[in-house]
Amino acid sequence: MLNHYSYQAALAASESIHWRVEDIIGGEKRLDFTRPFMPESLAHTEPLAFLSTEEKRILNQIRGNAYLCIFGLVEEFILPFVLDHARTQLHGDDYRVRALLKFAGEEAKHIQLFKRFRMEFEDGFGTLCHVIGPPETIAAAILAHDPLGVAITTLHIEWMVQRHYLDSIKNDQDLDPQFKSLLKHHWVEEVQHAKLDTLMVEALAANRSEEQIMSGVEEYLEIGGFLDNGLQQQVEFDLNSFQQASGRRLTESEKEEFRRVQLRANRWTYLGTGMTHERVLETLESLTPKARQRVESVSPAFC
Ligand SMILES: [Fe+2]
Ligand SMILES: [Fe+2]
Repeated sequence: MLNHYSYQAALAASESIHWRVEDIIGGEKRLDFTRPFMPESLAHTEPLAFLSTEEKRILNQIRGNAYLCIFGLVEEFILPFVLDHARTQLHGDDYRVRALLKFAGEEAKHIQLFKRFRMEFEDGFGTLCHVIGPPETIAAAILAHDPLGVAITTLHIEWMVQRHYLDSIKNDQDLDPQFKSLLKHHWVEEVQHAKLDTLMVEALAANRSEEQIMSGVEEYLEIGGFLDNGLQQQVEFDLNSFQQASGRRLTESEKEEFRRVQLRANRWTYLGTGMTHERVLETLESLTPKARQRVESVSPAFC
């Protein structure tokens, strides 16, 4: 084991954080639709040279809405997964039970936060933007996989959130302060999730042969392929939402360019940033070096 994470320390850190959904959004706390919501390193609107500054901002906000909705979506499988994992470990370590239940409770809060955000967005943006789903169907498809594959997927998502916030969002002064505050409050609780999920992956891999571990890694990659199909669908939704919101009809060649740039942006946002995260790779390597090598052989397609 490479890390020094513990259930007790994660619980203590989590218990020092206090915010409610109502503190983050609603009432006076309104989104500012004159500002971008997403950092350019994730939104990738600049390469679309045929869009005006205002059109790039509209697309950026569509991506911001999809970002929170897709997080809401994946957290709908993380919540039952963590509960199921906790259910099998109710005895022996009281800190473990409490830390895992706190983890699940925070994800339930985040799901509610993202739903609340979506209402605010739809209210202020003026165009209905479709997002892949429904969450329960996607959750059921993911949860049908080997628990180790699901736990690695969760690990990927938790570290991905860390990377997005620290590398791209924290120091971006152009973003809407309200949207940024929401991402910050989410991130601060996700810090503990990344550590707890590392412990969950280790617990699920313990007593497995290398072959059984690698079969869990293959299931993680299958889940990645499933999510990638969803992202291709999301790019089509975003293209339609963009045309509707901006009133601009793109030519066929502009649409092709939009799809190419935005699929790459979505793949990097949701797949590449997690698959290449050093903490994810370290955890995989600690299970077996083959696990790291396998993921590294696939990740360039998503970067
Ligand atoms: Fe979350
Ligand atoms: Fe989380």
